[in-house]
Amino acid sequence: MSSSFGTLFRVSTFGESHCKAVGVVIDGCPPGLTLSEKDIQPQMDRRRPGQSALTTDRQEADQVIILSGTEKGKTLGTPIALQVANKDHRPKDYSEMRDMPRPSHADFTYQMKYGIRAASGGGRASARETIGTVASGAVAEKILREKYNIKIVAWVKSIGKIECGPVNTGQLTRKEVDSSIVRCPDQSAAEEMARLVGQLKEEGDSIGGVVSCIIRNTPPGLGEPTYEKLEARLAQAMLAIPATKGFEIGSGFAGTMLRGSQHNDPFTVKNSHIGTLTNNSGGIQGGISNGEAITMNIAFKPPATISIPQETVDFDGKKAILAAKGRHDPCVVPRAVPIVEGMAALVVLDMAMRQEARRALRF
Ligand SMILES: Cc1cc2nc3c(=O)[nH]c(=O)nc-3n(C[C@H](O)[C@H](O)[C@H](O)COP(=O)(O)O)c2cc1C
Repeated sequence: MSSSFGTLFRVSTFGESHCKAVGVVIDGCPPGLTLSEKDIQPQMDRRRPGQSALTTDRQEADQVIILSGTEKGKTLGTPIALQVANKDHRPKDYSEMRDMPRPSHADFTYQMKYGIRAASGGGRASARETIGTVASGAVAEKILREKYNIKIVAWVKSIGKIECGPVNTGQLTRKEVDSSIVRCPDQSAAEEMARLVGQLKEEGDSIGGVVSCIIRNTPPGLGEPTYEKLEARLAQAMLAIPATKGFEIGSGFAGTMLRGSQHNDPFTVKNSHIGTLTNNSGGIQGGISNGEAITMNIAFKPPATISIPQETVDFDGKKAILAAKGRHDPCVVPRAVPIVEGMAALVVLDMAMRQEARRALRF
């Protein structure tokens, strides 16, 4: 099982949903960075369960602690271990799932692969695993902000068929995104989305959605063709988030309906450097950042655990009805926003460090 990601900025996450703690070890963080829990906690708070009436009712404070790798508030260049305790778990809520795999969750595939699994709470397939991504992503983001002024903002583009209206992506802030509990910056769409998610929560059902993300101020030259093209690494990172079903860069699937004459991004001179007039490429050409904003969309399915009774079979193949108990997210996209931002930061920082190494040794 591969729980590590990155080459020079390498993170390894650990922990199951109901074990004592979850977290991450970061290897390769540059020394001398000012770092405390205060730099990490805001993103943990945006990810945590129980933050609004529309998320799971599981209540976790998700307080992050730095176990190693810093002294007097500065990074030492040694591995940084970040940990969050698991507190509000109720293994009883999962008792029937010991014998019955949840349709479209990971119970069946984990059991088939390992012959054993953490039956309580989804184990490693639980979204608690993403705590490590968000915590290490916040560290990566701090470095990207301080060294390159890179800014990453994600938001909810759609829930079900309700779409966010046009967004000024050049200026969008996290504060604007967080002005609604569904994290959609279009207030009227946000209200409709919140109504729908609230209604489905009451009904014991769930719904999917799309998260958009923009990375601003990326320098040109990031990405490692051919197998580690920037969009390939971003796609891998995003599709490693639980419940993801699709990834688009730039114009994505809609671009297939255009002609080259409509889709090409003409070059121009912008503030004394070469840039493009449009950005259908999504800031990446040939697997390398071109200096424009990187834009992507990530599709999330409706979460699998629903309390509406479903016909299924147990692990012995016997017909059964599963109506899940417990506290589950009716829609994951509002909580997925900081996870997408964290993944984006991990990819971009790792690529930036690799490009710095190449540049330092250029003849
Ligand atoms: C923030 C977040 C919260 C989630 N909450 C739930 C949940 O409450 N119930 C559930 O069944 N799945 C939830 N999921 C999705 C499952 O973790 C995921 O569907 C499962 O691991 C199976 O993996 P797959 O959907 O990628 O195939 C959540 C995902 C994310 C990103």
